[in-house]
Formats: sequence, C-alpha cells, structure tokens
Amino acid sequence: MNIVVTGGAGFIGSNFVYYELAQHPEDKIICYDALTYAGNLETLEAAMQSPKFRFVKGDITDEAAVERLFIEEKPDIIVNFAAESHVDRSIETPGLFLHTNVIGVQILMDACRKHGVRRFHQVSTDEVYGDLPLDRPNLFFTETTPLHTSSPYSASKASADLLVQAYHRTYGLPVSISRCSNNYGPYHFPEKLIPLMILNALSDKPLPVYGAGENVRDWLYVEDHCAAIDLILRKGKDGSLYNVGGHNEKRNLDVVKIILRALGKPESLIRHVEDRKGHDLRYAIDPTKLKTELGWEPKTKFEDGIRRTIDWYLANRAWWEHVTSGEYAEYYEKHYGAAVK
Ligand code: NAD
Ligand code: DAU
Repeated sequence: MNIVVTGGAGFIGSNFVYYELAQHPEDKIICYDALTYAGNLETLEAAMQSPKFRFVKGDITDEAAVERLFIEEKPDIIVNFAAESHVDRSIETPGLFLHTNVIGVQILMDACRKHGVRRFHQVSTDEVYGDLPLDRPNLFFTETTPLHTSSPYSASKASADLLVQAYHRTYGLPVSISRCSNNYGPYHFPEKLIPLMILNALSDKPLPVYGAGENVRDWLYVEDHCAAIDLILRKGKDGSLYNVGGHNEKRNLDVVKIILRALGKPESLIRHVEDRKGHDLRYAIDPTKLKTELGWEPKTKFEDGIRRTIDWYLANRAWWEHVTSGEYAEYYEKHYGAAVK
C-alpha cells in the first residue's frame, strides 16, 4: 500500500513513519509536510535511507500541491497528523489554527474523494472533550462524551472531527478518527511540557509551571499511540472513532518533579508562572472500545517511557539545539519573558 503521512516531520508523525517502516516493510510511506517551525527534516534522516520512504515538502492547505501529490503517489491511505498543535500558540494566533487544522482537512478530504482513497484517518485529540473536574477521579472521556472545547486549538480540532464525520455521511468517504491523550517520547518539540522541562533542567534554567501545577494530563508513550493508529487503519471499521489512552494520569507538578529527580536537579528550579488562559483541569481517557474491539493495550509504563525519553534527549543534543534556535528562541522569549530568567 501507499500511505501518505501528513505532518510526518513533526513529533508523532515522525514516530509513526518509523513505526510503519519497521512494522510494514511491504508498504511505501510518503511524508507530506510543510516544515513549519515544528517540522524538522533532521528527524527523518534515517527514514531517508529507506527505498520505501519519500519526503515531499508541501502544505495541506495548498490545493494544487495536494492534487500533485495524489497524482504522483496514488495513495491508498492518508493519515493526517499535520496541524498546528500547541495550545499556547493558538491563544496568540487562532486564525492560523483554523486555516491549517480545519481548511487543511477539507482540502485533503476533497482530494481523497476525487482520487478514491481507501481510508482517510484523522489524528484528533482528547482536548475536543474539554476538561474533567479534579475532584471526580472516576469520570473519564468516552467516545460519546459531548464535544466541549476550551481553546482555539481544541475548537479547531473538534471542527475538523465534525467535518470528517460530515464527509463520511454526505459523500460516503471512508474515514476513521482517533482521539488520543498527551503523548511523550523522542522528537517531541521542546515547547511542550515534558521536553521543555527536561531541557531547562539540563541547563539549570527555571522550570515554568503554569499556576499551581495541579492540572492533570493522561500521558501515553508515543509508540503506543502509533500502534493504536496502525491498528485502526488496518482493522478499524470504516466510519469509526476510537479514544486512545493508557490510564496514566499525573499532575503537572508531579511530572516536573519526576524529571528533576531523574536528572539529579533541585526542586528549587521550579518557578510557578501565570496560568494558561482557559487552562483545562484534567484529561482522562477511557480506552475500553479500542481494547475490546481491536485488542490494543499500551506496552510502555510511564517509569520506563520517561527514562527512555530523558535518555533520548541526553543522547540527541544536536537535534534539540537545532530545533530550539531561530523561531523558537523568539517564541520562548516572548511567551515566558522575564518570568523564567
Ligand atoms: P507537531 O506540532 O510536533 O507536528 C506537526 C507537524 O505538522 C509538523 O511537522 C509541521 O511542519 C506539520 N504541519 C503544520 N502545518 C502544516 C501544513 N499546513 N501542511 C503540512 N504540514 C504541516 O505535532 P504533534 O504533537 O506531532 O501532533 C500531531 C497530531 O497529533 C496533531 O494533529 C495533533 O493535534 C495530534 N495530537 C497530538 C497529541 C500530543 O500529545 N502531541 C495528542 C493527541 C493528538
Ligand atoms: O491531550 C492531547 C494534547 O496534548 C494534544 O492535542 C496537544 O497537541 C498537545 O500539545 C498536548 O496539549 P497540552 O496543552 O496538554 O500539552 P502541553 O505540553 O502544552 O501542556 C501540558 C500541561 O503542562 C498543561 O496543563 C499546561 C502545562 N504547562 C505547559 C507548558 C508548555 C506548564 O505548566 N508549563 C509550560 O511551560
């Protein structure tokens, strides 16, 4: 099969490229990515050595470029990871999020209709459900939890999900959607909590924790997410929707302390800074449907995954030094300013 992975130069997309090349050497993987600040060709250096891999630079909102891609590659499956993915940036520039995360999906799906692909898979997020209260630990997001978004980012992802379902019903486009909780692992862009805290701790810089740090996220090792998407593509029913998560809820402050302990750094580096606007309190996924229908279970325990992730950042200094120079350095200065000096 020819599988187009959009956004495959970013964090989860690149891990998915490597997962597919290893698990399905019979398939051809084509990465289509605009290489925004979050996409990095160095991440795909090893994949470039494979005759079963091709990289195409392009934007999902560029209709003509998408059309060329479909003519050249005749894809069987499209897996759409391409998105603006950072909540804090969406608060600053909502228009860009709507353009990429909604219009980009419409353009991809129109090409899928025209060229008759076998499946369009939309990589969505648990953030479309909004948040859960901190004092009701037995409440979880299921596939029937109503959409209730908090940020421009989550609103754009929820809009895309609705559009995907509309294309399925109106045009009969073969689709699937996965809604995953927070991922962590190699190639995670350092604007996000876990890599940011690892890199700041390594440089003895303050660790900016929003508010009291009581917010809870449900962490999943990225390879487990890739395995779930792979299963849904190959075994999930047309039109299906699956939540993906491994029941691994942690308070932000506890995650930060785990990282500091692992690196032998003092908790005095923690700096409580102004809270995120509209900050979601708690995410927690119920993955029962994926487990019972497709037999998926996460393989990596948090203690192992976080150790592996920290070791990866220690061993790949050149990668993160490159991605944090340029645009990201300006963003960091503007977003955190004097609070973390
Ligand atoms: P990321 O920001 O690391 O990567 C996004 C990639 O998309 C980059 O390579 C970027 O260059 C590319 N891209 C952006 N705009 C594009 C455009 N217009 N055309 C083509 N390519 C474009 O994101 P990520 O964390 O890897 O997330 C990937 C997907 O998974 C997103 O759709 C996100 O909503 C979803 N998701 C992420 C998480 C998480 O914890 N990171 C969890 C659940 C779902
Ligand atoms: O749940 C899935 C989502 O997880 C994905 O859809 C998003 O693309 C992904 O970015 C992630 O969103 P979050 O907002 O949960 O991730 P982030 O790493 O930005 O923040 C995690 C938590 O840490 C959140 O409660 C905010 C907090 N935080 C974050 C940063 C960047 C801090 O306390 N300080 C920080 O500097």
